[in-house]
Amino acid sequence: MFRKLASCVGEYKKYAIATPIVMLGEALMEILMPFIMAAMIDNGIQNGDISYTIKMGLLMILCTVVSLCCGAGGGILAARASMGFSKNLRNKLFKKVQTYSFSNVDRFSTASLVTRLTTDVTNTQNAFQMLIRMAVRAPAMMIGAAVMAIMINPRLSSIFIVAIPLLGVCLGCIMVNAHPRFGVMMEKYDALNTSVQENLTGIRVVKAFVREDYEDEKFKKSADAVRKAQIRAEKLVILNGPIMQLCMYSCILAVLWFGGNMIVDGTFQIGQLSSFISYVTQTLMSLMMLSMVIMMFTISLASMRRICEVLDEEPDIRQQASPVTEVKDGSIQFRNVSFSYANDPQNLTLQNISLSIGSGETIGIIGGTGSAKSTLVQLIPRLYDIMDGELLVGGVDVRKYDMKVLRNNVAMVLQKNVLFSGTIRDNLKWGNENATDEEILEACKAADAYDFVMSFPYGLDTDLGQGGVNVSGGQKQRLCIARALLKKPKIIILDDSTSAVDTATDARIRAAFRKNLKDTTTIIIAQRITSIQDADKVIVLNDGQINDFGTPAELMERNEIYRDVYEQQQKGARA
Ligand SMILES: Nc1ncnc2c1ncn2[C@@H]1O[C@H](COP(=O)(O)OP(=O)(O)OP(=O)(O)O)[C@@H](O)[C@H]1O
Ligand SMILES: [Mg+2]
Repeated sequence: MFRKLASCVGEYKKYAIATPIVMLGEALMEILMPFIMAAMIDNGIQNGDISYTIKMGLLMILCTVVSLCCGAGGGILAARASMGFSKNLRNKLFKKVQTYSFSNVDRFSTASLVTRLTTDVTNTQNAFQMLIRMAVRAPAMMIGAAVMAIMINPRLSSIFIVAIPLLGVCLGCIMVNAHPRFGVMMEKYDALNTSVQENLTGIRVVKAFVREDYEDEKFKKSADAVRKAQIRAEKLVILNGPIMQLCMYSCILAVLWFGGNMIVDGTFQIGQLSSFISYVTQTLMSLMMLSMVIMMFTISLASMRRICEVLDEEPDIRQQASPVTEVKDGSIQFRNVSFSYANDPQNLTLQNISLSIGSGETIGIIGGTGSAKSTLVQLIPRLYDIMDGELLVGGVDVRKYDMKVLRNNVAMVLQKNVLFSGTIRDNLKWGNENATDEEILEACKAADAYDFVMSFPYGLDTDLGQGGVNVSGGQKQRLCIARALLKKPKIIILDDSTSAVDTATDARIRAAFRKNLKDTTTIIIAQRITSIQDADKVIVLNDGQINDFGTPAELMERNEIYRDVYEQQQKGARA
């Protein structure tokens, strides 16, 4: 885990290496200072040697300046190293998430991924910064100061034998118990983010159903859960300070007592006692520093584990070693295809689908809600992998294609589609980044979006706002169709993509498709029978199985479900 994270230091390695070296300089100066002070008191002041005292005083000033420079320099270097580290780590995570398939994302939940990319990375960054600043400085200072203390008075130094193990055990106990509590805390953060994310993406629904109070309550509960989990974890960590102080002051008291007696006996000098106390303080302070580093590390260990889970997740859908890079035509064959979201043969969403669709055909799909229409078509551009059977596009198994090539040739207008912030032009260029304005407008015409785009004062430069909030549902659908058309795909799939437009617009779009997309295989999922009645063939899906497959006329003749839907809608239209 640590190696994986450390690799993100990358080009900031020089800062990460320089920091501990500079911090070591600071520690060295701090260890030197009590030593110089003892010499100044015992040899200079007590003997009345002014020039020696001044010389030592100047030396102390020099040490202070060097220590200050090292400390400040170390801080700056550590900041550069850690910020760079977190930038690289975020980029790596983001890149990894981009390789995820739909089912990978389903597994983590979007909110949890957001927490991992933000809060967890920040925790790790803080731990890293602390680590490079203190991991060398604190032990060096602790050992250096302890050695100096032993050199001054080995007998008095025996208090370390009691103090250090005692402190070590206390801090160890705290850490071992705190670690799992921080893991729980991060999970509560996930829940909090889920609540915020759901609320904000669905704010219109929340308002329409006047659910603000309920949402408020839900958020309060999540926020309170975070508070409780945080208190539970932190209340262990804060014990660190008092235990440390108790230990330090007890030591100083003991030193003053025993050291004082030694001075009275004449076996110890005043200057030595003062520097001894400084070294005891330094040793124990360094130990505390070290414990804080370890503590911070403990807190972020939970975050690091969560980050590594994202990095370690294997994308479900992977490309073969030497993939096929050309889709010959728009033909599609399903051979005994079965699929399950849970990858469970007992719980199949699609069962034994066998179909053959010729290149350039227009195919309609109808079926009740939940009959797995969307699931069926999502298999074609390999948004999910099939579990059993074979699925061929252009005569080649979809798993053999280069993913980019396949998805560029199978354009899909998803049922739950989104536009992104930016202008209409920016959004449509997702289909083809090199598209000219003429091509874009051509696609708009085919998707019956031309008129309304042109009616906006800024035309293609109209800003859509986040998630495309500035256009109506029907307009959004038509822009999504135009975006898919710009890919000039061999297969285009419209998953209920004209549900929000009126019948006349729907008819215009279909007419334009017939005219412009003669060679493109078109698959239309629709609730309205009129949307598919001029298709070459229609698939009737029922409960994840093919109920019938034939021309609209044939189905009218022989298929009960088709006839029922037709008659219901005719009746509705007449009424
Ligand atoms: N991401 C998912 N994870 C698990 N199960 C899912 C997922 N998406 C859909 N399902 C389930 O698969 C079944 C088929 O869903 P699907 O979305 O394909 O239906 P549909 O025919 O497109 O319905 P609609 O007409 O309402 O769009 C449903 O029972 C649904 O609960
Ligand atoms: Mg659907």
